[in-house]
Amino acid sequence: MKKNIAIIGGQWGDEGKGKIVDYIAENIDVVLRAQGGANAGHTVIVNGKKFIFHLIPSGIIHKNVKAVIGNGMVLDLAELINEIKFLNKNGIETAGRLFVSNRAHITLPFHKYIDQQGERSSKEKKIGTTGRGIGPTYMDKIARVGIRIADLYERETLREKLEANIARVNEIYGKFYGAIPFSYHEIAGELAAYADFIKPYVADTVSLIKGFEEQELSFLLEGAQATLLDVDFGTYPYVTSSNSSIGGLFTGSGFNPFLLNRSIGIFKAYCTRVGEGPFPTEQTGEIGEFLQEKGGEFGSTTGRPRRCGFFDLVSARYSCMVNGFSDIAITKLDVLSGLGEIPVCVSYEIDGKKIDEFPSQIKLLAKVKPVYKRFEGWKEDISNIKDFDRLPSQAREYIRYIESELKTRVSLIATGPERESLIER
Ligand code: IMP
Repeated sequence: MKKNIAIIGGQWGDEGKGKIVDYIAENIDVVLRAQGGANAGHTVIVNGKKFIFHLIPSGIIHKNVKAVIGNGMVLDLAELINEIKFLNKNGIETAGRLFVSNRAHITLPFHKYIDQQGERSSKEKKIGTTGRGIGPTYMDKIARVGIRIADLYERETLREKLEANIARVNEIYGKFYGAIPFSYHEIAGELAAYADFIKPYVADTVSLIKGFEEQELSFLLEGAQATLLDVDFGTYPYVTSSNSSIGGLFTGSGFNPFLLNRSIGIFKAYCTRVGEGPFPTEQTGEIGEFLQEKGGEFGSTTGRPRRCGFFDLVSARYSCMVNGFSDIAITKLDVLSGLGEIPVCVSYEIDGKKIDEFPSQIKLLAKVKPVYKRFEGWKEDISNIKDFDRLPSQAREYIRYIESELKTRVSLIATGPERESLIER
């Protein structure tokens, strides 16, 4: 029987999901994304060529795979068109293989503007967003004023909505941020051109997915961002504006949850975070720099340096609880080669009191002290190892410890950026 698999970030994103998706998509018929937008950056390296996907599910790189952009996504259409063109230029066909939900919401220039001004303004709390307009697009969706792909093809609806949105933005945000007014004609003109370009890709993805399910095609549900950035379960307010844990994959696509066979939690062998917000195991000194440099920890969407720290079992246990992962992939294990010792955070402490649960209060989380268990490091380069038993004994012990603490099997271990650098257990 073919399997339906979900892939979900277990930490604060950038766990190397692209590589795991790439590996799994080889045997999959349909890849789909269901939440987030151009804030995501999934990197796949094939034959030395780097592909960075922001919107299109990265599994499309496999020739026989169909790719679906679900209703839960927010789409910057200029970005979507660039990605389509880039793929086509590099010999990857999109016609007849890429489907965009008619219910997905559109990110407009004022969404990006509001996002970026919010980050700059002293009147607002800085979140450290990617500036891609994600929060404001979802704000409009929840406020029931958002513009959806389907509206592009219903002239009257589009005009009414766009006029109302622009009037509101110019009136409210114009005053609040002292903004230059947005022009209806400019945005409507851009949208008309985008609408023509994407028309062949637009579909009712709910019935499309149902049809694929009936044909018993196999699915890969590609989560973007990660559990600790989830708007409900993450370190609120330092989160993204979608459900980036398991539930979002269903509400954002219409895929039948009862057909899911496996959900893989992706965890980096250490932790990183981009943007603001508490990060208990963060290392700002030499070790932080070592991880940043060796792991190439710079954002694939914004180029921002990622904050780095040690593996955190408290938040990882919480992630496992939220998602119910069937198994785990540990990525970037090779980055740890060369460290004398590798601490793992086993619990938090505050004023000498042990805390095992992942705190919901943001100031409390910012104050906790990690309690570490220290593991012996290894010196060997492990990037070409394909067999778990050939890893240095210290690396095996590290993996086995994480696995036993999370009570979830580690089934995949990534040991380098290339497709081949992967251990399957
Ligand atoms: P937004 O999603 O652009 O609103 O950003 C909100 C928070 O989520 C910020 O801390 C971002 O750095 C973080 N974020 C959003 N997308 C990603 C991602 O794909 N990887 C890592 N962090 C992300």
